[in-house]
Amino acid sequence: MNHTKVMRCKVCKGPIVIELRQHNAAFCAEHFIAFCQNQVARTIKKFWMFGPDAKVLVAVSGGKDSLALWDILIELGYDVDGLVIGLGIGEYSNESTQFARDFATRRELTLHEYDLASEHGFTVPDAAKSTSRVPCSACGLSKRHIFDSVAIDGGYDVVVTGHNLDDEAAVLWGNVARWQAEYLARQHPVLPARNGFPRKCKPLIRLSEREMAAYCVLRNIDYVVEECPMAAGNKHLEYKALLNDMEVASPGAKHHFYFGFLDRAAPLFADAFEASDQTNSHGSELPLSPCSSCGQPSSNEICAFCKLVDRVAPSAEPVSVEISARSDMIDR
Ligand code: AMP
Ligand code: FES
Ligand code: ZN
Ligand code: ZN
Repeated sequence: MNHTKVMRCKVCKGPIVIELRQHNAAFCAEHFIAFCQNQVARTIKKFWMFGPDAKVLVAVSGGKDSLALWDILIELGYDVDGLVIGLGIGEYSNESTQFARDFATRRELTLHEYDLASEHGFTVPDAAKSTSRVPCSACGLSKRHIFDSVAIDGGYDVVVTGHNLDDEAAVLWGNVARWQAEYLARQHPVLPARNGFPRKCKPLIRLSEREMAAYCVLRNIDYVVEECPMAAGNKHLEYKALLNDMEVASPGAKHHFYFGFLDRAAPLFADAFEASDQTNSHGSELPLSPCSSCGQPSSNEICAFCKLVDRVAPSAEPVSVEISARSDMIDR
């Protein structure tokens, strides 16, 4: 007698397209899509991310996560525009931007395009060459600055990004490995609007990379598959691989690690949050005042991004600079 159990969709008992061991469940295409959308709806509600009438700006990279997020939010009935930043990382950036454009065109959605080189005269590879830090540092600093300014100028209530469970668990791993109390205190899927910065949320934290790839396939969303060519040496990729090994050995490990932290450990870092609340995104002391160059809030006369611009693409009056903070480990 053959005792092999044939898995059936948890909802309709039909043939399955995916098994989710961490949930001890399997789904057909229709119910897997509904499952992903429900997970996002649940996250938005549980963390009070935004209300049904919010004007939402999704930062889209052209990758699977952010395009899936845009699709899900539209399906859930939200009013969402996109923002894609051309980072100038060769063909990779051109291709990524094109995927975002195609997605928006096909669905008749509004996509803001912001090109780093035409707006500021430099690319991420240029910045990487003229600073001693890993490329992601200047890349992250530039992206955050642009997300903030486009959101504020466009009157958006919230900026959402496609960080998924794998991303957040990997960042958490890095922060725990060094016991970075201040970063741990700030590692929350919601950053409230304050000091002239917009509200920022990560609605995909309950979904994994694998789930997002499957979602895109099933929803016919084309996305850039290649990893960023500047990612070599990026610790997060190593941490992700490590967590994937843990997940194989123990399904649900990533989820328990990250959500266990949010539920049980994050409150223990409240003091560090209080302390970090007295600092700006780059760890400098308040008070903040408008950057004399771009007007964004900053604790210095010139903000970190404008200092980077001056260093990489110097104009009339150069400014001396050090990029501060490990911007790959902290999001504001
Ligand atoms: P990454 O920092 O590449 O892991 O991307 C994290 C999230 O940042 C993505 O899911 C997007 O929401 C956003 N993002 C990354 N790259 C871009 C880009 N070039 N333009 C707009 N948003 C981006
Ligand atoms: Fe692309 Fe860091 S600059 S991954
Ligand atoms: Zn089903
Ligand atoms: Zn500035």
